[in-house]
Amino acid sequence: MENIIKDIDIIAPDQAQACDFKTTVEEDTGKSKKLYIESYGCQMNFSDSEIVASIMKDNGFDTTSDYEQADVIFLNTCSIREKAELTVRKRLSQFNAIKKHKPEMTIGVLGCMAERLKDKLLEEEKIVDVVVGPDAYRDLPNLVSSAEDGQKGVNTFLSREETYADIAPVRLNSNGISAFISIMRGCDNMCSFCVVPFTRGRERSRDPHSIVKEAQDLFEKGYKEVTLLGQNVDSYKWSPEENNKARLNKKEEEVSTVVNFANLLEMVAKVSPQLRVRFSTSHPKDITDEVLYTMKAYDNICKYIHLPVQSGNSRVLELMNRTYDREWYLNRVQAIREILGEECGISSDMIAGFCTETEEEHQDTLTIMDIVKYDFSYMFYYSERPGTLAAKKFEDDIPLETKKRRLAEIIEKQAAISLERNKMDIGKVQEILVEGTSKRSEEQLKGRNSANKVVIIPNTGIQPGTYVKVKITDCSSATLFGELVS
Ligand code: SAH
Ligand code: SF4
Ligand code: F3S
Repeated sequence: MENIIKDIDIIAPDQAQACDFKTTVEEDTGKSKKLYIESYGCQMNFSDSEIVASIMKDNGFDTTSDYEQADVIFLNTCSIREKAELTVRKRLSQFNAIKKHKPEMTIGVLGCMAERLKDKLLEEEKIVDVVVGPDAYRDLPNLVSSAEDGQKGVNTFLSREETYADIAPVRLNSNGISAFISIMRGCDNMCSFCVVPFTRGRERSRDPHSIVKEAQDLFEKGYKEVTLLGQNVDSYKWSPEENNKARLNKKEEEVSTVVNFANLLEMVAKVSPQLRVRFSTSHPKDITDEVLYTMKAYDNICKYIHLPVQSGNSRVLELMNRTYDREWYLNRVQAIREILGEECGISSDMIAGFCTETEEEHQDTLTIMDIVKYDFSYMFYYSERPGTLAAKKFEDDIPLETKKRRLAEIIEKQAAISLERNKMDIGKVQEILVEGTSKRSEEQLKGRNSANKVVIIPNTGIQPGTYVKVKITDCSSATLFGELVS
């Protein structure tokens, strides 16, 4: 267990939140230059890279999957934990070697590290030419063109309005079946451990019509699943006043009433019963019964909720400034079970060893896991981030060894619970959306059920993007195995 934790501080069947993500789609539309993007961190960043590719495409760049061929390399970075930043620093030193024999290449650092470190990054990382924060991507073509003339540039302006609503993302790592749609940006929550409010700025919601239109366009192109993204989707809110403000610049349709997240979910679900709708992340303080009833009303809204608890102890939750306690959280889980039943998938994020956490308080995290029975979790040990409330107010006093041991206990507990939850699916018939062949073998297909679990079935030549009924026959803690039912 220790060995695993040295290298990864996260374990989950779908490691979308942790792994890096590279340009895999080669586009050759005859443009004169090539762009390579590598993204780190959360799905929000992956989605932003697709916006960046679109902006660059309009300015003479095709994408490439080979950084050796690139005129411009962008690293879209994450600051959430120290390790995320160290990974990017290491990567930059690798690119240093390439730049030595190709000095005309432009290297840009985008995203949350750009925002956190600003012009300090140019000083610290000599090979970096441009540093651009998440709200300033429209300025990228200017900055890159100045860099080509030898002038380094920084833009880390954070906006209260920018949502990139009018930009059609270039799908960079697409299986042609599933796509992300950002519905909001920023975060106003100020959890004490978290750097996101500082790197992403104030929360703002995107025009619902532009969201529905993006979903419709994707469906018309053959996509079968969209995931609506925001740091706290339940606080999505679009009001007529905001719409009127936006209409002064852009001719959008009129929205006469306030649109909340439940309304938006319904609007997207109505695009087509054949288009699955997912969303992430739900905040326990904000998730409403209205959202749960909307999920229940539409078969194509997937029965899966990512509801990060962070800690199972009320005192620690208060220090974390999560604004809910253990009881409130358990009450929300009860609402999910009452409205959506046992089969609704629930996953979580957990932080081990937050400032002053005692052994008993750590036990509360283990016991809440036993009560909720998460299908899977993203698990971390606390990493102090400069500038956050916790860094200012509390001492990072839990020794690293203790943090790692507590994390190991959490990971072990989750593996056992995942297996228990997966076993409950054996014998059931479920609908899965086939995504392609499995990583292990061409003879197997990989799909996902409504609860977001990966299901492996024999490859009988079914095309990716097809919905099939499958009987679950076996499982591991991370995967279900099934066979087709006719
Ligand atoms: N908006 C989401 C979380 C986004 S960050 C929410 O509120 O749930 C993703 C996860 O990273 C968090 O849920 C938390 O578990 C983890 N995380 C954030 N800051 C961290 C830190 N300083 N140390 C360790 N883990 C952290
Ligand atoms: Fe960070 Fe909290 Fe906002 Fe999530 S809700 S992004 S943890 S501040
Ligand atoms: Fe990381 Fe920024 Fe996302 S800090 S987790 S990339 S919002």
